[in-house]
Amino acid sequence: MNIHDYPAEPFRIKMIEPVKMISRTQREQVIKEAGYNTFLINSEDVYIDLLTDSGTNAMSDRQWAGMMLGDEAYAGSRNFQHLEETVKEFFGFKHIVPTHQGRGAENLLSQIAICPGQYVPGNMYFTTTRYHQERNGGIFTDIIRDEAHDAHLDIPFKGNVDLAKLQQLIQEKGAENIAYVCVAVTVNLAGGQPVSMGNLRAVRELTARHGIKIFFDATRCVENAYFIKEQEEGYADKPIREIVREMFSYGDGCTMSGKKDCLVNIGGFLCMNDDDLFTAAKELVVVYEGMPSYGGMAGRDMEAMAIGLREAMQFEYIEHRVKQVRYLGDALKKAGIPIIEPTGGHAVFLDARRFCPHLPQDVFPAQSLVADLYVEWGVRGMERGIVSAGRDKNTGENHRPKLETVRLTIPRRVYTYRHMDVVAEAVIKLYEHREQIKGLRFVYEPKQLRFFTARFEHV
Ligand SMILES: Cc1ncc(COP(=O)(O)O)c(C=O)c1O
Repeated sequence: MNIHDYPAEPFRIKMIEPVKMISRTQREQVIKEAGYNTFLINSEDVYIDLLTDSGTNAMSDRQWAGMMLGDEAYAGSRNFQHLEETVKEFFGFKHIVPTHQGRGAENLLSQIAICPGQYVPGNMYFTTTRYHQERNGGIFTDIIRDEAHDAHLDIPFKGNVDLAKLQQLIQEKGAENIAYVCVAVTVNLAGGQPVSMGNLRAVRELTARHGIKIFFDATRCVENAYFIKEQEEGYADKPIREIVREMFSYGDGCTMSGKKDCLVNIGGFLCMNDDDLFTAAKELVVVYEGMPSYGGMAGRDMEAMAIGLREAMQFEYIEHRVKQVRYLGDALKKAGIPIIEPTGGHAVFLDARRFCPHLPQDVFPAQSLVADLYVEWGVRGMERGIVSAGRDKNTGENHRPKLETVRLTIPRRVYTYRHMDVVAEAVIKLYEHREQIKGLRFVYEPKQLRFFTARFEHV
């Protein structure tokens, strides 16, 4: 294993949490009882948990020490001041409103910045983001480059906005009918694909000409910055923090799920430069989250988030992070397993269309695959295909995303390369008898964000 391709963990392990693998018979029972939905499995029944990278981060000794400095006053906590200073330093936005997690920020932004009937173009949808946009009368429009929908295509910056699509939308609908452009860095559902700085600059130039604001989904912005440093000309020698700061200089604000790149287990925030939007967000945050100086977080959580955001900017951390994910992607590719290429920043996505060509999308190939992967070796992933995409709000028909995938999401600072080997072995074993994977149908389909709590049975 080459140390440059796959650097060793840039930390020592000081505290451990035992994991165990239950028997195959037990796993068959567990998945059946969970209605073939990996969200409904108890964590103690999971051997390697790649359900999500959200809130599953391991905190550092410094973050834990920071937890002891929690100022749990109802208002004016010093931990908020620390968080506010840190976010302003790294992101450069004028105002910050704390929230309990990312969707809390999405809820506030969608309420204050979208008028019913307005369009909200974005570089591919994200489940909770689109839900809040639509709930507030927005019309989500996908403006990601076409290549992002092609799992097999290995090109850099697959998360880029297609400027022609954005230009056309502005021309057809009129700038006044566009609430804002939502740019995710990186793009989760495209496979954790990054957006280039050149593209961000160009989106800014185009929107500025029409007076349209840009709000980033900053959830994995540090991972995005690493890809820019690694792959975009002119950035190799720039520190990660400078790249992040430049990225955000091309926007008017952001929503942030701190549960990812802030290296914590809970928390989020909303940022903006506009004073009026800030006033509106502060008025609303007290309704949904709490005082503008805690927004649903404990003081100690805000302290850990401020420290975590600073740690995330360290090159050694982010290099190991992205390359550990790539290690799993490389192992699977070497074995001929179909995945979304190139491997993105937070996860490896199995391409269920090519993994299970015998299953039509109507019987949920990715959901079936992820359930069987759990049975194979106790590895838990998540469906990111037709089930996650949900139904069209107006027609009631299923959205049919081109990408039908299983996401194997790597928690930050939690697992070792050897764990990645085991995951690869489990996937390869399952691939050997993939024709036995059976399709599923709903027995319970929730009305909103159905993938979280839906139940299935074999067809
Ligand atoms: C790209 C993206 N945006 C927003 C969110 C929502 O954040 P949270 O889970 O903290 O509400 C997530 C979480 O998975 C995400 O991946």
